[in-house]
Amino acid sequence: MALVLSCQGLSAQFGALPLFEDIALSISDGDRVGLIGPNGSGKSTLLEILAGIRRADSGTVAARKGARLGYVAQNVTFPPGLPVRQVLEQALPAGVDRDAAIPMALGQAGFENGDAMAETLSGGWKRRLAIACALVGNPDILLLDEPTNHLDLDGILWLERLLRSASFARPTSCSCVSSPAPLAALRLSRATS
Ligand SMILES: Nc1ncnc2c1ncn2[C@@H]1O[C@H](COP(=O)(O)OP(=O)(O)O)[C@@H](O)[C@H]1O
Ligand SMILES: [Mg+2]
Repeated sequence: MALVLSCQGLSAQFGALPLFEDIALSISDGDRVGLIGPNGSGKSTLLEILAGIRRADSGTVAARKGARLGYVAQNVTFPPGLPVRQVLEQALPAGVDRDAAIPMALGQAGFENGDAMAETLSGGWKRRLAIACALVGNPDILLLDEPTNHLDLDGILWLERLLRSASFARPTSCSCVSSPAPLAALRLSRATS
């Protein structure tokens, strides 16, 4: 499978203490990678660096030329006064047919219509909307930070189905982050099926 995102020698620190050092990672089409670590171990920081919204203290991140990257942050917020439909429209890349893409994205996320104000949604529906915004750009790689936060059981099953069908429909890499175990440091784990 072709490489879509890689990093070498990534290090980050806040203040005197290093958060992580010398991380190397390669993600290819179709890979599913779990990033696991306790609170404060640097999962969100690493994902922000991979997503290009934060600079590492050292090291490099390289994405395949033209690769589309989707990213859903740990904390999801939307500007006031925007209906769901408009939030999705703003996430659409240029040149995509909005008349086809928006109803599909609404249906995929489970919204009956796009009229609700995004800022008034529950935490779980905000999370669904944020994931739908990332998917509407048809990403080659999807970075999800604590994607099950605020999702109820239905929401978690929805996310599972979505990620499974996405990886079948096209090569998609998903970095899912959670902190279920008291590990000493960040761990990376690749799903094999
Ligand atoms: N901008 C910042 N300035 C100072 N410290 C930060 C900043 N961002 C994160 N941290 C600290 O870095 C550590 C790792 O944060 P984070 O990447 O959010 O960890 P995780 O996602 O694993 O819980 C935490 O101790 C956090 O307080
Ligand atoms: Mg985090």
